[in-house]
Amino acid sequence: MCGIFSYIGASASAPSVILDGLKTLEYRGYDSWGIAVKYGRKIALEKNVGKIGGATVSLPKSTVGIGHTRWATHGGVTVKNAHPHLDCTEKLALLHNGIIENYETLRHRLRSKRHRFRSETDTEVAVHMIEENMQEGMDFLQAVRNAFVQFSGLNAIVVMNSDTEQIVAAKNGSPLVVGRGSNAFYLASDASGIVRHTKEIHFLKDNELVVLDTSVALYDVTTGNKLPVRFETIDWKVEEASLGNFPHFMIKEIFDQPKVIRTIANTYADQIDDLADVIKTAKGTFLIGAGTAYHASLAGVYLFSKIAKEHLNTAMASEFNYLEDFLTKRSLVIALSQSGETIDIVEPLTRAKGKGSTIFALVNTLGSTIYRMADRKLLLGAGPEKAVASTKAYIAKLSILLMLSFAMIKRTSEAKKLLLSAADEVERLLKDQPVRALEQLSDTLSKKQHIFTVGRGLSFATALEAALKIKEVSYIHTEGLAGGELKHGTIALIEKGTPCIVFAPSDETYEAIISNAMEIKARGGTIIGISPIRAEVFDHWIEVKDIKDASIIPQIIPAQLLSYLLAVRKGFDPDKPRNLAKSVTVK
Ligand code: F6R
Repeated sequence: MCGIFSYIGASASAPSVILDGLKTLEYRGYDSWGIAVKYGRKIALEKNVGKIGGATVSLPKSTVGIGHTRWATHGGVTVKNAHPHLDCTEKLALLHNGIIENYETLRHRLRSKRHRFRSETDTEVAVHMIEENMQEGMDFLQAVRNAFVQFSGLNAIVVMNSDTEQIVAAKNGSPLVVGRGSNAFYLASDASGIVRHTKEIHFLKDNELVVLDTSVALYDVTTGNKLPVRFETIDWKVEEASLGNFPHFMIKEIFDQPKVIRTIANTYADQIDDLADVIKTAKGTFLIGAGTAYHASLAGVYLFSKIAKEHLNTAMASEFNYLEDFLTKRSLVIALSQSGETIDIVEPLTRAKGKGSTIFALVNTLGSTIYRMADRKLLLGAGPEKAVASTKAYIAKLSILLMLSFAMIKRTSEAKKLLLSAADEVERLLKDQPVRALEQLSDTLSKKQHIFTVGRGLSFATALEAALKIKEVSYIHTEGLAGGELKHGTIALIEKGTPCIVFAPSDETYEAIISNAMEIKARGGTIIGISPIRAEVFDHWIEVKDIKDASIIPQIIPAQLLSYLLAVRKGFDPDKPRNLAKSVTVK
């Protein structure tokens, strides 16, 4: 979704610092971008449609500026609709994340007061409202505050005034973080762009308003009362948030995975034992997540059943809204999320909280909305994940859920051994030879229009996740299903040469999934088997060694690699698939 990067400081480098900052947020997905800087007592503005790529800006040197990458919601992808937006006097520049749901009423009121609108966006009402407030005698801070409290919906705004050397920002729902550097402040929609400048971060809470000049001041947006500012030091490393020698973040993050698994195996036991205790005292535990995080939740249910002999519930976060009648004060809701900002998760959590249920956050992003709203929390520890397609955060969730299942039966050390073996197997799969075999396979698959992925039990979650990975970056229609469901409909689509990826680990699902593979083959399908065993039915075999209950971890690696290779082969940018955003903050 939209990205924000702003700067105020002693150095007159605002245009270049902001442009570089926006580049670090490109992974969030966007279709246009813009930067405004203060220039004397005027505002200089540059806006563009498309990606930043190698762009430079011809803005004047300045010590203060605001920048934005826009993911269109209200109004087409045009330069006029790109942010920042100016007021009628061109003294104020404003950018915005979120949706001002009552913008039509506000725009109508402002038009009747002769404000001129230049765009089709909901955002533009905000800058004219602030202008109107200032014309009525409010100072800049008051004017921003008064306007912000009138917006409905989840929003973050950042405003600059050419008559002051200040940036004012407020948020409700959409994320915003402030970084404190030496003689400079940075404001961004997430910390990953700021870490190269400073690791001292303040995560704005909802209904906080921040004023940045040579110092930082924080206010409650509704009461106007001053609040204490608390900077935390984050431990993300700059190199974790940059490409290094890799051509794309997606492949870099796939290669980060052995390290992520080993860190969890070696350092998470105590925190996971605590979470096991919380589950034991709860009456009803629900795992919820969206997309890849939902697939991890589903895997969690199977792992719990198999290892801990306990029943957990799961639902897609966006559907959980309709299942909440079950919740009581004794329920536990475990929210899985890489970004910690996904609106489809935040909404049902808010309702669950309202019912008095306990919220446990399993998120990757310190200070994120879900992290803050949770009663208990555990960071995934995957480091910054920048490719839109989630890989290492998925592996981190699986590793934690596996360890948690063993922690329930007080066998955490067994999980640790399994995880370390899984990490070795992931590393082996990332070596030249297995990758070359997948490269060859991607040549054939890139010409196909449909792919099916099938698995049973734990591998059903893998089949769903493999299908999502392949379709989202290669745009090949891929459908994941449980082996048992084939005969209930989908087998009708199998014809000569239809590729089917079959997950066949050495577990209780092996025989049944091989029978499914035979049924597909009998109808002309081509079978790509991902298994420790070379079964006769496979046309292609990708060996993934048996790691007992942890086999689900290496099992997804060939599918992650294949999706990356397919995207690259088809000439698509795997890091920024079309129409998708890394952090989904609107419904
Ligand atoms: C797919 C993918 C998405 C996310 C989903 C939830 O590769 O990345 O399906 O998993 O949007 O995002 P988070 O985990 O940030 O809540």
